[in-house]
Amino acid sequence: MDIRFQSKTAIVTGAAQGIGRAITHGLAERGADVWACDIDKTGLQRTFATATPQAQSPIHTSITDVTSKDAVNRLVSQASKVSGRVDILIHVAGGVVGQVGQPVEKVTEDQWQAIFDVNLKGAFLFSQALAPLMKKAGYGKILGGVDAAGGPQANTDRNDPVCDDKPE
Ligand SMILES: NC(=O)c1ccc[n+]([C@@H]2O[C@H](COP(=O)([O-])OP(=O)(O)OC[C@H]3O[C@@H](n4cnc5c(N)ncnc54)[C@H](O)[C@@H]3O)[C@@H](O)[C@H]2O)c1
Repeated sequence: MDIRFQSKTAIVTGAAQGIGRAITHGLAERGADVWACDIDKTGLQRTFATATPQAQSPIHTSITDVTSKDAVNRLVSQASKVSGRVDILIHVAGGVVGQVGQPVEKVTEDQWQAIFDVNLKGAFLFSQALAPLMKKAGYGKILGGVDAAGGPQANTDRNDPVCDDKPE
């Protein structure tokens, strides 16, 4: 299946590595104008540098912390002004925010909050900033929920009997 994104503009969060980088490359290769954002400047530069020459031209990189309302609003406003529209958001930033498996009783409130802020608050802030534009345009796609914070590498260790999610 050959899906094209000509004349579409997309914002990809968490674009400095992994899944976000791959999605950035894939969208740009298929014709989208892509705003790739992350807090990791070096990773973002690498995302740009490792794109194919044809994909490099439509990639814009932006240092944006998805937990900051001001930063999110700034990016949406810039993308909409420069590219003329924002059609797609793919919210990849998130995951376990650098934390590794540990029993639930060792998880601090700050660690718990950090996971929620990137995964959920980030999605909320972008949705809030983009909804008016997408409603006005009569078109918009918001994709999120690629989070695996409930997975085996998350704070709540699967080996902890209290948190055991293995089938009986
Ligand atoms: N890797 C997998 O096998 C897998 C499987 C299923 C789901 N997922 C989920 O998909 C998402 C991406 O996975 P990944 O492996 O590419 O993750 P990753 O950890 O490699 O990348 C996450 C990116 O988010 C960025 N980020 C963190 N906090 C940020 C913030 N406040 N503002 C902006 N950017 C921020 C990081 O700098 C990083 O570049 C995660 O939510 C993960 O849980 C991953």
